[in-house]
Amino acid sequence: MSILIKNGRIITAADDYVADIFIEGETISAIGKNLPVQADTVIDATGKLVFPGGIDPHVHLAMPFMGTFSSDTHETGTRAALFGGTTTVIDFVLQKQGHSLKEALDDWNSRAQGTTVGDYSFHMAVTDFNENTKAEIQEMVENEGITSFKTFMAYKGALMINDSQMVGLMQEVKKQGGMVTVHATNGDMIDYLIAKHRTEGNLSPLYHYLSQPEVTEAEASGRFSDMADYTGCPGYIVHMTCEGALNAVRNATRRNQKVFVETCIQYLVLDASLYEQNFEGAKWVMSPPLREKKDQQSLWAGINQGLVQVVATDHCPFMWEQKLMGKDDFSKIPNGHPAIENRMELLYSEGVHKGNITLNKYVEVACTNPAKIFGMFPRKGTIAIGSDADIVIFDPTETHTISAQTHHMNVDYSGYEGWELTGKVKTVLLRGQVAINDNKCLVDKGYGQFIKRNKVSGKI
Ligand code: URP
Ligand code: ZN
Ligand code: ZN
Ligand code: ZN
Repeated sequence: MSILIKNGRIITAADDYVADIFIEGETISAIGKNLPVQADTVIDATGKLVFPGGIDPHVHLAMPFMGTFSSDTHETGTRAALFGGTTTVIDFVLQKQGHSLKEALDDWNSRAQGTTVGDYSFHMAVTDFNENTKAEIQEMVENEGITSFKTFMAYKGALMINDSQMVGLMQEVKKQGGMVTVHATNGDMIDYLIAKHRTEGNLSPLYHYLSQPEVTEAEASGRFSDMADYTGCPGYIVHMTCEGALNAVRNATRRNQKVFVETCIQYLVLDASLYEQNFEGAKWVMSPPLREKKDQQSLWAGINQGLVQVVATDHCPFMWEQKLMGKDDFSKIPNGHPAIENRMELLYSEGVHKGNITLNKYVEVACTNPAKIFGMFPRKGTIAIGSDADIVIFDPTETHTISAQTHHMNVDYSGYEGWELTGKVKTVLLRGQVAINDNKCLVDKGYGQFIKRNKVSGKI
């Protein structure tokens, strides 16, 4: 099978030019003007943008969490991702405290193998670091192709590890050629504030927000950066939301330390005023919570300064009925919000179309940097000869409206209901197959492949 994409405007993190792309099998075999080739299929991309398939390195599919499971499976979540122009996702395997990493991996494999539609990889979340866990790190890196290890500085009793575990993990992960990633918020301080608000009878979603003030994130981001500096381990802070946390990383970089920073689309475009509408605010109950408008400005600036390298989603959807578990107590609302399908179009519309970022920066933070940071480049994350033919053909002028009635995520509301966006995903190729065309998914459950990742250097 061969495909010729003709005359599209090709955008990578560095380039912007009009050319043809020739695909043979799963990979790109030629790029050039008026390529003299015969193809089985020809796609005319005149007037369209052509960029690499999006990579969302932060999603939670069918994740057991807060007494329930996130509502997108590996099938529904990766299919929805494809509709939105994201061809590869990295999901989180969660070690159960008292059990092994291998058991957790077997559990996730049993749900993901043969069911995913788009390509995927795993981070391993270490929730119980001890001598047994330590002995499993090498196996994960060398044999499983899992080179990033997620930690939580919050969610005590379920996922949180303490600082001595963190330092021990960092030393081992550095030795094995991996990276430690972190949910950086001060769990003890948050638990204190949650208990205080509940005792005072303040139980609405607004108090979820008030239990996680900016300082809880800034403090933990600085502490994580210090531990990463001390151990020399490559570090990556997930879902950063605010100016205070960005400044903690800014400070760390003054001593020539590299700590990667991810923000998520919601923190760039939504703000905490959404928590003021009684229980409706539960739609946006996530950790960390949405912040203020000034923080959105700081995040856009951070992206343009190169301090923030990745825009992900932290996709973790729950049905409205699941959110209702917390209708009388904000601390029981499952934390998370759906966005896996919306990220690329929202970031284009709110970022590129509104002039907050350039087209090259868009590709850099949504496609290329996630591939580089997590050991998938140049197979994924760019348009180049030899790379996987993961390609999005995008109409930069078409407008459309986000709605739960038309999205493909397995969740019965949208955090962006009624939002009008400029720019639409038209066709998506995944490893040389047309996966999405004309709002239809053309690849089956099981087409998605597990991507074994390379060791990482902490440099991009
Ligand atoms: O609220 C969130 N973020 N839910 C998913 C788990 C996590 O902390 O990333
Ligand atoms: Zn066990
Ligand atoms: Zn988190
Ligand atoms: Zn998350």
